[in-house]
Amino acid sequence: MRRPLVAGNWKMNGTRSSVAELTRDLVRQVLPGSVDVAVFPSLIHLDMAMHALASGSISVGAQNCAEESGQGALTGEVSGGQLAEFGCRWVLVGHSERRLVMGESDAVVSRKFATVLASGMSPVLCLGETLEQRRSGKTLEVVLGQLCRIIEDHGVAVFANAVIAYEPVWAIGTGLTATPGQAQEVHAAIRGYLANEDAAVAEIARLLYGGSVKAENAAELFAMADIDGGLIGGASLKADEFGAICRAAG
Ligand code: G3P
Repeated sequence: MRRPLVAGNWKMNGTRSSVAELTRDLVRQVLPGSVDVAVFPSLIHLDMAMHALASGSISVGAQNCAEESGQGALTGEVSGGQLAEFGCRWVLVGHSERRLVMGESDAVVSRKFATVLASGMSPVLCLGETLEQRRSGKTLEVVLGQLCRIIEDHGVAVFANAVIAYEPVWAIGTGLTATPGQAQEVHAAIRGYLANEDAAVAEIARLLYGGSVKAENAAELFAMADIDGGLIGGASLKADEFGAICRAAG
């Protein structure tokens, strides 16, 4: 039985006061003990969020890291080692906003994935197709291709310590959610791909769905056999709604 994970990606949102308010309200949420809950603030709010959430069970991760794990001359970057030492447990890798807007290639994503693991944290590897790719019938080719690169470079066993988030690009921040059936189809294909490599790893790997998850649609998505929780954007900025989504996974 896989333990669900609900993760809130705050993206480039928040101010000192809004993060103080959000974390204060998150601490007050009744969260199911059977679900792992994590939030991913922007780097400048990591410290505040960690302190504010320290008394509860919500863990904290980073939205990105450098390809390197050590320290050195790389202006503006934060390394995997620095994030781990700071107390981060997770790092998002390969989010579509970084792939498509920041131009991160599969090779860059793969190196970041390895750095996160080598630094002692768990990568949350994001995979997903654009609307055009879905319309041209390439969804599985794209998603499994992104996954394949990681397995080729690092082997399948890494997914005992890594999470996969399927986030169809067309569903991110658009209000369009994949139907539970559409999401399950891709999740089943991802798990099947892992199983071809190693059945035991496929059985324990956690696969999250992301893309306009809200309190009202979370339960039906999380009820799917291969959906083990969610990666939540906009709705994770509202403590009550995020709490409800976490409870839907319990
Ligand atoms: O990483 C979470 C994400 O991209 C989904 O965002 O706002 O559609 O829930 P949203």
